[in-house]
Amino acid sequence: MDKQHSVFSGIQPTGELHLGNYLGAVANWVRLQDNYDCRYCVVDLHAMTMPYDIAELRANTENMLIGLLACGIDPARANLCLQSLVPEHTELQWVFSCVCAYGDLMRQTQFKDKMDQLEGQQGAFISAGLFTYPVLQAADILLYRADYVPVGKDQEQHLELSREIARRFNFQFGEFFPEPRALATPTPKVLSLADPTRKMSKSLGPKHYVGLFEEEKSVRAKVRSAVTDTGEGAGEGMSPGVENLFSLLAACGDPAVHAALLKEYEAGNRRYALLKDAVADALVALTSRLRARRAEIAADVPGMWKQVRAMSEVSRDAARATLREVRKLTGLPSL
Ligand code: TYM
Repeated sequence: MDKQHSVFSGIQPTGELHLGNYLGAVANWVRLQDNYDCRYCVVDLHAMTMPYDIAELRANTENMLIGLLACGIDPARANLCLQSLVPEHTELQWVFSCVCAYGDLMRQTQFKDKMDQLEGQQGAFISAGLFTYPVLQAADILLYRADYVPVGKDQEQHLELSREIARRFNFQFGEFFPEPRALATPTPKVLSLADPTRKMSKSLGPKHYVGLFEEEKSVRAKVRSAVTDTGEGAGEGMSPGVENLFSLLAACGDPAVHAALLKEYEAGNRRYALLKDAVADALVALTSRLRARRAEIAADVPGMWKQVRAMSEVSRDAARATLREVRKLTGLPSL
C-alpha cells in the first residue's frame, strides 16, 4: 500500500455520468482507492461558469454524488467531497490568480472551444469565471497537495497549467507544492458514437454519448447506429469509429471475444454487426450492474448527503492546514 501518495480528481455536475467519464477517469478513481490516499470532488463551482438553471444544478449535483458512489467510490477507502462545501478552494484560487500568467489562460483550448460554443448563441454571456476556470482547477488539486490526478486526455492542458502554477508559486514563495502528474486509463479519449471525430461528451447531445445508467434498449440502439466505415478500406488503418468500438470492447468486454473479433478484422472480415453486438452486450452488462447499484444508493438520499457533508468537513481540515502555510508563505496574517 502506498497511502503516502495522494490522488485528487474532480468532475462537473453538468448532467449524467457517461462512458467517457467512466472509462477515461472514474474507473481509475475506483481502482486507485486501495493504494493511494484518494480524494474525489464534485466540482459544482466549476459548473457555474456556463449559464445554468438553478434547480438543475441542485439535481445534477445530487445525481453526480449518487452516481459516483454507484460506480464504486467507497467512503471507507476514499473521500468524496463537494467543492462548494470547502470554501478554501476559492481562497486558494485567488492566491493562484496572482501567480498565474494572463497569457497562459488565453492559450487554454477548452476556454476557446467554450467561447466558440457560446458565441454562436443569441445573447450569449461569457463569464470571467469561464476564463479563470483553470486557476480554480489548479487550486482544487494543490489545496490537497495531490501527487497524482486521474483524468481523461482532454484535461492534459489544464493539468500542465496546474504544474506551472505550482512552479511559479514555489519560485516566488518557497518550495511548497508538489507538481501533480496525470494518470491515464487505457481509454483516455472515448469518442462519440455518432461522430467519432469528436470526444464523447454530454454537450454534443444524447445520440453522442452512452449514459452509465442508461436502459438496455437505448444502449443497444445507440451502439447499433454507431458510425463505422464501409468496410472496404482493407489494408488501411482502422477508422476512428471502429477503433473506438474495439477500445470500448477491450475496456468492458470479454478479452477472448475482443481477441477473436480483432483477428477477424485483421483477416479482412469487416462487417461490423458482430462487433456492435459484442460491444452492446458488454455495455448492457455494465450499465445494468451500475443501475442496480445506483438504485440502492438512491434509496437513502439524506444518508448520502450526511456522509458527503462529513467527508467534506474532513477535506476542509486538510484544506485549512494548506492555507495556514500559504498565508505564512505569502505574507498574509493567520486567521
Ligand atoms: P469533466 O467533468 O468534463 O469530466 C470528468 C472526467 O471525465 C473525463 N472525460 C473523458 N475521458 C475520456 N473520454 C471522454 N470522452 C471523456 N469525457 C470526459 C475528463 O477528462 C475528466 O477526467 N475540468 C474538469 C473537472 C475538474 C477537475 C479538477 C479534474 C475540476 N477540477 C481537478 C481533475 C482535477 C472537467 O471539466 O471534467
